[in-house]
Amino acid sequence: MLIDNFKVEDWFNKYEKDAVYDLADTCVESLSINELLRISQADLSVFDRKLNYGDIHGSERLKQGISSLYEDQEPQNITVTHGAIGANQLVMLTLVEPQDKVVSIIPTYQQHYSIPKSLGADVKTLVLKEENRWLPDLDELEKLVAEDTKLICMNNPNNPTGAIIPEEMINKIVNIARKSNAYILCDEVYRGLNHTEEHFGKSIADIYERGISTGSMSKVFSLAGLRLGWICANTDIIKQVNKQREYNTISVGILDDYFASIALENKDIIISRNIEKLLIGKRVLTDWLEKEPLIDCVIPHSGTTAFVRYNLPVKSEELCTKLQHETGVMILPGSTMEYEGYLRIGYGNNFEKLEKGLGIFSDWIRKQI
Ligand SMILES: Cc1ncc(COP(=O)(O)O)c(C=O)c1O
Repeated sequence: MLIDNFKVEDWFNKYEKDAVYDLADTCVESLSINELLRISQADLSVFDRKLNYGDIHGSERLKQGISSLYEDQEPQNITVTHGAIGANQLVMLTLVEPQDKVVSIIPTYQQHYSIPKSLGADVKTLVLKEENRWLPDLDELEKLVAEDTKLICMNNPNNPTGAIIPEEMINKIVNIARKSNAYILCDEVYRGLNHTEEHFGKSIADIYERGISTGSMSKVFSLAGLRLGWICANTDIIKQVNKQREYNTISVGILDDYFASIALENKDIIISRNIEKLLIGKRVLTDWLEKEPLIDCVIPHSGTTAFVRYNLPVKSEELCTKLQHETGVMILPGSTMEYEGYLRIGYGNNFEKLEKGLGIFSDWIRKQI
């Protein structure tokens, strides 16, 4: 299967291990196993379990925990996958056939346009604009969605912009999808990290009968190392997905299943921890933005990243390569997400490094002008 290079992942593979100040990361500082055990006060009887395949589609306890993140979903609406990356891929392998029409809203995780393209679909992209505060232009979407469009792919809350599509707008997107009976795949891997009091926005699975939500333990629960995600949709879609899944997953590891289950049972504690960290990180970022005249940004309201615009006569890839080479500060170039003149900064990880790294970045900028 021919497929384009995954630009963001390639960038991480090339630069992450040498970064002194990693400002490209999308996780809130990860939890250790011991921290998770302390938070959940779990006993360790799981270590007596035989390492067989476990529950093939995910344990009932896990699926119960995942369904608790939704308003109106039951364990039978869930199937468990290898991360959200596995979830997104599985949905596309299940639904998309050659010549199918797919509309993908960018910037986003590259899976959402490169996989359907590699499957032979006709992929159109709706390009989000900063002047619209990174929200989709619905007139444009309406023009892009044909009467036989099969799938609309979106990511809400959005990586890299941190924008949240408001519920009324999601309803309008659903109305557009309904006209062509299109599925909506909404990558909700950052859902649960809204910086406002209500951390979870509405899920597409709770709004639209052909809505498919993907999520994972990686960002909201700071447990990317579990490699555990899920698909949540109506039981007919889950049945179709599981048919495909038999060829690609078997099951997730029983330890991953267990650790994810206890994390979900303690979701309020973990999410409060993460929001607290994100708000501190966002403060560091916004203080820096106020002092840095050559960088501007629509302040994110959710998630872990900001998509900042810079005013320097240099391409983003060249800027990031030179910056990291000369200072050790790693930032993601917008070109890896199909945008020139932008950079993605993650602010959920280590604040001392964030503050120091941003300061070094500003000093470096002064030397370029
Ligand atoms: C929007 C989005 N979807 C999916 C993923 C993959 O996440 P996971 O670690 O759950 O596979 C990422 C990771 O950065 C992401 O940003």
